[in-house]
Amino acid sequence: MDEKINQLKDLINESNNIVFFGGAGVSTESGIPDFRSKDGLYNQKYKYPPELILSHTFFMAKTKDFYDFYRDKMNSLKYEPNTTHIKLAEMEKEGKLKAVVTQNIDGLHQKAGSKNVFELHGSVLRNYCMKCKKFYDAEYIFNSNDIPKCECGGIVKPDVVLYEEGLNEDTIEGAISAIENADMLIIGGTSLTVYPASGLINYYKGNKLVLINRDETNYDKRANLVINDSLGKVFSEL
Ligand code: OAD
Repeated sequence: MDEKINQLKDLINESNNIVFFGGAGVSTESGIPDFRSKDGLYNQKYKYPPELILSHTFFMAKTKDFYDFYRDKMNSLKYEPNTTHIKLAEMEKEGKLKAVVTQNIDGLHQKAGSKNVFELHGSVLRNYCMKCKKFYDAEYIFNSNDIPKCECGGIVKPDVVLYEEGLNEDTIEGAISAIENADMLIIGGTSLTVYPASGLINYYKGNKLVLINRDETNYDKRANLVINDSLGKVFSEL
């Protein structure tokens, strides 16, 4: 492990255009469960399978059930950034790290101070009326009891990419450009099983691809350095 941490430190020292690509594993040490681990969201029992609940069809057909689940399980307001979020924000401030590309919707990178964050799957912090597009903050949604409604009568929908929905074009373009220009790509806390997000790492053409993940992934063979350990442990050593 020490040997690998030293290798990681050397790679970071040599780099000035680092991009971090992350997923739910970045926030587990803040207390937010990921999706596919043993204690992850998709392995818990609900009235409906969580993957179904987080789909556009379900949102439209069973909006009340969607919001009961969403308020219960997706409320990230009560959580704080952990070592990984904080270290990444510091690296950006130092000018080493140029962007965070995340599949997370919890807003914790920004809460830690990161500025250039590409949120591929949106954010619970932004919500819009489906009819008049008026903005609502997360408190409005998480403090509601029923289907959150706009003053115009429309349903307020989180700016979160549900299954069957497309990713925001500008966000994808920004993320691709950051990854294409990176001299080092650190991937962490993601099973890399969800497309098109995981496909974005194919845009990295350099030879400093580092993968930090508790479990193995299908991309391990492609990485120049693989650390199968907790992100908190690794980032606290940096
Ligand atoms: P997953 O739950 O699929 O994967 C999380 C990965 O993080 C797993 O491989 C864990 O081993 C690892 N992990 C967990 N905690 C860790 C820690 N403290 N240190 C290091 N590794 C850790 O989550 P994602 O890959 O983010 O999409 O899932 C991608 C997408 O699937 C999500 O954005 C969400 C979901 O469906 C939508 O909702 C659209």
